[in-house]
Amino acid sequence: MDNRPIGVFDSGVGGLTAVRRLHEILPHEDIIYFGDTGRVPYGTRSAETILKYTRQDVHFLQAFDIKAIVVACNTVSATALDTVAAETDVPMIGVVSPACDAARKATVTGRIGVIGTQATVRSGVYERMLTAADPNLSVFMQACPLLVPLAENGRVHRGDIVAETLVREYLAPIKAQGVDTLILACTHYPLLREVIAAEMGAHVRLIDSGAAAAECVRDILTPCETRQGRTRYFVSDDPAGFNVLAPGFLHSALDFPAKRVEFGAF
Ligand code: DGL
Repeated sequence: MDNRPIGVFDSGVGGLTAVRRLHEILPHEDIIYFGDTGRVPYGTRSAETILKYTRQDVHFLQAFDIKAIVVACNTVSATALDTVAAETDVPMIGVVSPACDAARKATVTGRIGVIGTQATVRSGVYERMLTAADPNLSVFMQACPLLVPLAENGRVHRGDIVAETLVREYLAPIKAQGVDTLILACTHYPLLREVIAAEMGAHVRLIDSGAAAAECVRDILTPCETRQGRTRYFVSDDPAGFNVLAPGFLHSALDFPAKRVEFGAF
């Protein structure tokens, strides 16, 4: 038994898609969530800046004596995870490898679309990992930078003209490739799942990278004793805005309202 909490972080609300799945499959675990809402988005920044932010996020979570860290951010997983994991003595689970495994299991035709931030697309990590595992796969990438601000502002529902227009424009080149599987390679994008699913059609399987990572955590973690787990939320700006948005994304009330972190200390 290991009753220490699991740390989860993202640049903002996107990592809640991993927390939601953790709540479903590991209800006894305590979680510390950090959303860097004061510095979102990460996906438009340089690799050096993302690395600097990631080190600070990890230092913050380590103050809670956590047993593992879920990097619920593709941008960080794609660009900084290897470096920071080598510097950190807590196991770190990223989203890229679990998402690739889930996509390989889901595809029938071998044609896989990947949508993510500019930094994730630029890293090339999804093409490399997918084709290294199976050279017969065809992988089509598309950056969708405006979807993160949409999600951070709660503009994620069907009928939202801005969300539907952006999703249609971003997905057109991927749709044209006839993919049967689409990796949502940014943890913010499952918040737009209904809009994306309507655009792609029912025949395309959508892979939620945060949920895939949560399932990976279950497989490797030393569990805690049986009791009700609690999740505490920390953000680097606007806890009030987070407290309004988060319950809708989690499909449950927050155990505690989010607190603001003064990041200068990390
Ligand atoms: N949710 C994150 C990801 O999975 C980061 C989005 C961003 O901050 O640009 O890539």
